[in-house]
Amino acid sequence: MATDPRTAAIVLAAGDGKRLKSDLPKVMHLAAGRPLLVHVLSALAPLDLTQVVVVVSARKDEIAAGVADAALGLDIDYAIQETPLGTGDAARVGLSALRDEIEEVIVVSGDSPLVLTSTLERMREIHRGSSAAVTLLTGRATGPDGYGRVIRNGAGDIERIVEDRDATGDERAVDEINAGAYVFDRQALEDVLPKLGSDNAQREYYLTDTVTFFLADGHTVAGFEGSAAEAEGVNSRAHLAHVTKELRRRACERWMDEGVTIVDPDSTFIDPAVEIGRDAVIYPFTFLEGATTIGPRAEIGPQARIVDSAIAEDAIVTFAVVRGSEIGPAASVGPFASLRAGTRLERGARAGTFVETKNTSIGEDSKASHLAYLGDAKIGRGVNVGAGTITCNWDGTEKHETVIDDDAYIGSDTMLVAPAHIGKRAATGAGSVVRGDVPDDALAVGAPARIIERRGDKMGKKSGTRAADRRE
Ligand code: UD1
Ligand code: CA
Repeated sequence: MATDPRTAAIVLAAGDGKRLKSDLPKVMHLAAGRPLLVHVLSALAPLDLTQVVVVVSARKDEIAAGVADAALGLDIDYAIQETPLGTGDAARVGLSALRDEIEEVIVVSGDSPLVLTSTLERMREIHRGSSAAVTLLTGRATGPDGYGRVIRNGAGDIERIVEDRDATGDERAVDEINAGAYVFDRQALEDVLPKLGSDNAQREYYLTDTVTFFLADGHTVAGFEGSAAEAEGVNSRAHLAHVTKELRRRACERWMDEGVTIVDPDSTFIDPAVEIGRDAVIYPFTFLEGATTIGPRAEIGPQARIVDSAIAEDAIVTFAVVRGSEIGPAASVGPFASLRAGTRLERGARAGTFVETKNTSIGEDSKASHLAYLGDAKIGRGVNVGAGTITCNWDGTEKHETVIDDDAYIGSDTMLVAPAHIGKRAATGAGSVVRGDVPDDALAVGAPARIIERRGDKMGKKSGTRAADRRE
């Protein structure tokens, strides 16, 4: 049996994306929490490619950094197209970076994030079965404006592709569009690119013109019609919102297929990297973002935003923002809680109404049920944190730690002036101001609000004026 040809992908991502009116390179715009280009690369990743070349503008470093962050496990070669002279020229730049052993080339657009792995696999099969010079992906669009139209002859064979701006009125009425994804025979592509001209409305070298030259040279041109959505490219902010919606719909559908209840997919936003366990229930207006995992039977929402966090089985998170945190089994969060980076709730722990945490662990079955700020704190098991408790972790210059040992009882409105340490089974009285050590089993009471020094300059800094402060 003959071995499969060695395949490379060339991703065209050097266009300047003028229509987005942005300072960010077009392919770095986020859809469902991921840059457009990363969506495309992750569709390519399972294809077992010999090489992946991304054609980028001179802003390569910005793009490469964004791709590296996504940790796709792909070894990417970048080729720089100094001036965006068109998709044909971009393909030429990509080819110049191809290794000699490559025989087959998949070309996709970095701005078309909806293309599916299964479609590219199918195109590759058709391509190999038809010994075509190119197999291209088409789609039926309800609004084909702006896309290249696929013009077929009387026999239904593809004759050429005409760009929207070069099309006649009749051609514009054609609803079959070019999706901008192709499988080429490497040699045929190499031979045809020098023939392209730029005598068209945009004065660009069009990759789509290769079809005409292939046919003139007696080659076969094959087509594969994918879903209408897959053909969608992002040229404007409206397109960006549109593809985001589709990515979101796909994510909800995928998790419902896996046994997750999503009460209202239209108001549920799940990023592609999120994982959700069986029988979890996601209530409306919930955002699951970044590297987030939700355990089986967890109940999330309504109104939860969970970013880069792990929520264990049977946990409940409602009306809350949870970032960079770990929530243990059967723990509960909210309503109206903000869990910031470095928060860890053990099994059965609770961060309830109007509780804010940061860099804080709350041990098994410990509870902060109402109105608390817990920052830089290590809280043991079975601790009760009364309403109004605050860890005063910031002395104006430095952050300090508060440690609360197992089974301690923190009375309402306790100020724990860090560094502070509350021993096992120790208690603090309501309204107490505690600093230093409270030994095991002791009770600390009182508020020593004595004037001990002039208010230092270190406290005089104005806060709340930096953009970062305003966002927190
Ligand atoms: C292109 C196709 C069109 C198709 C549509 C599908 C051509 C001529 N037209 O049009 O038939 O319907 O995609 O979405 O190919 N790029 C470069 N360098 C350049 C120009 C573009 O790398 O010099 C990249 C862009 O970053 C983009 C992709 O190629 O990712 C497509 O370019 P774009 O300008 O968006 O082409 P469309 O007008 O959308
Ligand atoms: Ca485009």
